[in-house]
Amino acid sequence: MAKISFIKKMDPVTAENGSNLLTALLNAGIPVASSCYGDGVCAKCRLEILQGMENLSEEKEIETFLKQKNKMEKSQRIACQVKLSGDIVVDATYW
Ligand code: FES
Repeated sequence: MAKISFIKKMDPVTAENGSNLLTALLNAGIPVASSCYGDGVCAKCRLEILQGMENLSEEKEIETFLKQKNKMEKSQRIACQVKLSGDIVVDATYW
């Protein structure tokens, strides 16, 4: 199991290893911005990874492209393109 924790006042969420990060958060009732519903187009689902970057799947071509196009920081990941393999701490500007 992977634990997703937050720096804001929200309870941690658990998800199976291998789960998609966006789906895990949405299934737990945590709002995550999206206008492409996980198709890897909008980049609105970007999250700041505060801890546990090593517990996320490697960046694939589509995510690298989106991150460059949107001038995203290395510490940010496109949630819909990421799979969990361990505990992380995340944040979003709108939480
Ligand atoms: S939901 Fe659109 S890129 Fe992730």
